[in-house]
This record gives sequence, C-alpha cells and structure tokens, in this order.
Amino acid sequence: ELKVVIIGAGSSYTPELIEGLINRTAELPLRELWMVDIEDGREKMAIIANLARRMLKKAGLDVSVHETLDRRAALTGADYVCSQFRAGCLDARISDERIALKFGMIGQETNGLGGFANACRTIPIALEIAREMETLCPDAWLLNFTNPSGMVTEAILRHTTIKAVGLCNVPVIMQKGVTKLLGGSSDFIMQVAGLNHFIFARQILQNGMDKLDDVIDEIIAGNDPLVPRNIPPFTWPAHVLKGLRMIPCAYLRYYYMKDDILKQEIGEANGEGTRGEVVKALEHELFEIYKNPELAEKPQALEGRGGQYYSEAACELMSAIHNDKRIIMHVNTRNNGAINGLPDDCAVEVSSVITRSGPLPLNVAAFPEDTLRLLQLMKSFEQLTIEAAITGNRHTAWRALVLNPLITSGTLLEQALEAVIEENKELMSAF
Ligand code: NAD
Ligand code: G6P
Ligand code: MN
Repeated sequence: ELKVVIIGAGSSYTPELIEGLINRTAELPLRELWMVDIEDGREKMAIIANLARRMLKKAGLDVSVHETLDRRAALTGADYVCSQFRAGCLDARISDERIALKFGMIGQETNGLGGFANACRTIPIALEIAREMETLCPDAWLLNFTNPSGMVTEAILRHTTIKAVGLCNVPVIMQKGVTKLLGGSSDFIMQVAGLNHFIFARQILQNGMDKLDDVIDEIIAGNDPLVPRNIPPFTWPAHVLKGLRMIPCAYLRYYYMKDDILKQEIGEANGEGTRGEVVKALEHELFEIYKNPELAEKPQALEGRGGQYYSEAACELMSAIHNDKRIIMHVNTRNNGAINGLPDDCAVEVSSVITRSGPLPLNVAAFPEDTLRLLQLMKSFEQLTIEAAITGNRHTAWRALVLNPLITSGTLLEQALEAVIEENKELMSAF
C-alpha cells in the first residue's frame, strides 16, 4: 500500500488529483496521503485536506490524510511524490508578468522573462526537495508538475539521483482534442516531441495511416480544441501548419506570433488583468466553493484553469509505473537519442513507453533543420537558466536571456534583469 505525498497541496488543482486517485483505487492501493505546504499556504491546504477527506469518505475509502508544514516528515518512506508548488505564490507570477510587460516583453508564467524568473525561484527549492528524497525516500518516484516543468525536471535529473518524470497537461489536452477531431475514437497514437511548452505533434497514427493532415485541415477550418484555457483562442495561419506538417502546441504561439500576443497581453493588462490576476480571482472563487462542507467532489469551476485534466497525467503516470503498464504517455525525461540533435542527457518532452523501470522515450523522425535550431536554442536557454538559478551568476543569466527570442537585449534587458532580481530578493535564493 502506498504513501503518496503532494508538495504544494494548497493548490486549487489538488481536488483533481484526489479525484484521479479515487478513480484508480483498484490500480493504486493508497494508504496514506501526505499534504505539504508552507506557512503562506496553510489555510488553503486545510480547506483542500478537508475536501479531500470528504471526497475519500464518499468514495468509501479508508485513506488517512495528513497535512503538514514539515516536508521531511512527509517525505520519509514515500512511494510517490507529486510536486506542484509555486515558489513565491501567485503574487510572484503577477510581478513577473507586470515587469516583463513594463519592459515591452511578453509576460508569461513559463516563457520568456517570466519563465526565467520562475525558474530562478523554483529550481533551488526543487533541488532541495530532491536531495531530501535522496535520504528519506531514495526509491520514490518524483512526478513533477511544478513549473517551469521541463527545466525543473532537467535540473533534478542532472543534479540528483532521484527518479524524476516531468509532466504537463498540454499533451493531454492535445490528445483529447485530436480524439474529438477524429470523431471521438481514441484508437490512435499521437507522437509528440520537443521541450516542455515547446512540443510538436509529429504523427497521428490510426489503422496504419498518418492522420496528421486530416487533423491539420480541421484546425485550419477553425476547429481547434487543442488549446488550453489559459491561452486565448487564436487561429494559426494555414501555411504554418501545412508547411510544417507538424502541429505546434499552443505555447508555440508565443514564438511564432510574438507581437500579436504582446498586443493582446497589453490589452488584458489594462483591462481584466494579467493571467495571474485573473487566476487570483478564480482561485478565490474556487476556495469559496471548496469550503462548502456539503461538497464532496471536484467542482466544475476548476475547468476554468489552464491546467485542467492534469490529474489524468499524474495519476495515470503513477499507475503506469506502479503496474508496469507499458502504455504510451507524453512526459519529460532524458532524451537518450529520441530527438536527434539534442544532447542524450538533457530533458525533453516526448511520447514514451511507461514501464516500472521508467519511461522509454520513442524516437521521432528528424526535425526540419530550422525547427531543430529553435529547439537547440531553447535547450541552451533552459540549461543556462538552470545554471543561473543555481549559481546566481548575472552574466550566466544574461547569456540565457539574450538567447531567448521573447526577450529583448541591450539596456532594456539589463534593466529588466535588475528589476527581476530586485523584486525577487527574498525568493531567488542564489542571487
Ligand atoms: P498555487 O499558487 O496555488 O501554488 C500551490 C501551492 O504551493 C500554494 O498553496 C503555495 O502555498 C505552495 N508553495 C509555495 N512555495 C512552496 C514551497 N516551497 N513548498 C511547498 N509548497 C509551496 O499554484 P497553482 O496555480 O495551483 O499551480 C501549482 C504549480 O503547478 C505551479 O508551479 C504551476 O505552474 C504548476 N502547474 C503545472 C502544470 C503543468 O502543466 N506542468 C499544470 C498546472 C499547474
Ligand atoms: C497549462 C499549462 C500549465 C500551466 C497552466 C496555467 O496549460 O500546461 O503548465 O500551469 O496552463 O493555467 P492557469 O489557469 O494557472 O493560467
Ligand atoms: Mn504545462
């Protein structure tokens, strides 16, 4: 029987994880659920823990739910650890968005300047957790959702001995979207490859045929259910999809349609607020709902968040590892040659066969050279960002930032970096 730990349990997404675990009790015999948060999240965690208890009780399950601020106690003897914390909480996300916009750049949680700042806050904590796991639960699997998920996973794989797999709901949303476009049948295999929030669907195999062109035609015709809630609906220029013959994930829009997004974000920032600000209001509503002592299920309202369906990835991954299911899932893991042209030992987000011994990434056909260059550039950005997050070296930070197509250079960059460091004085521990 399993001991599962959730770090950052005060997240409004947690009820989805609980639902996922309840739906899989036959496959995942859960004994103890340990929720961990920090002082700032104590109240939210208490509300979530009580809702979780009601959900488990309704499902007739005898699982003990512990809430603690003592991470070491929680990690001791754990089997699976789900990491889903937000270093600096939502206020830090909002400040990232606002600083980037102030300096004329896209303000986003995982991309560009915001992604860099998020990484610098998060990676030192993620490494601390993994190092604690090395002594307290060396055999446990770490399922990382904490953003920026790709960089966090790469940092852990590179610097610790912990078995870590990085996750994202974007490929899940793409998979569900393609199911819809193929008429509801799920008897196909979608293969994705790239980096977290930078993936491409490479083939969609059904009955020995590649349905990629059919799906692309649907999307061009204005039917695009592959976009998560946090990204406003948009249309890809037809030639982009036809020409690439790949389906870029919605986050690629930040790179391929940068100025359009920036304009849109400036409008939002002056109107309903940045995404972080909108999420803050949404989160407030969600916790009001969660508090209701009659509620014993995941409420519909959670679907307004961009991370919808993320529990499917987390719980299905846990079950696939635990039961050696050998199913294909889309995860962040060591490349090991899956993407030709990226280092073997770097983390990539690729369709992989999930076994008890870990994910086996599937090889993809060579990327067109220009797309490969972009992937290599972004991987260098990620690796330099990780190094900066650990060392606090400003020159390394600058080297990372000047590479990123979403980030400006020169005086504005110097000023923006100073503003980020100043604003995050207490949160970016290496700087
Ligand atoms: P949130 O702001 O609610 O944060 C979750 C919890 O983390 C909060 O209760 C907070 O108090 C806690 N926390 C902060 N620092 C902590 C620390 N050092 N140790 C333990 N807990 C800590 O965030 P959210 O919007 O619910 O998202 C949670 C995380 O999951 C974020 O990193 C988010 O980006 C990520 N996420 C990722 C995906 C994905 O596709 N990979 C999907 C959804 C959410
Ligand atoms: C998903 C991404 C997550 C991200 C979330 C943001 O699309 O995969 O990595 O955390 O959206 O959603 P939010 O509701 O917080 O803006
Ligand atoms: Mn994601």
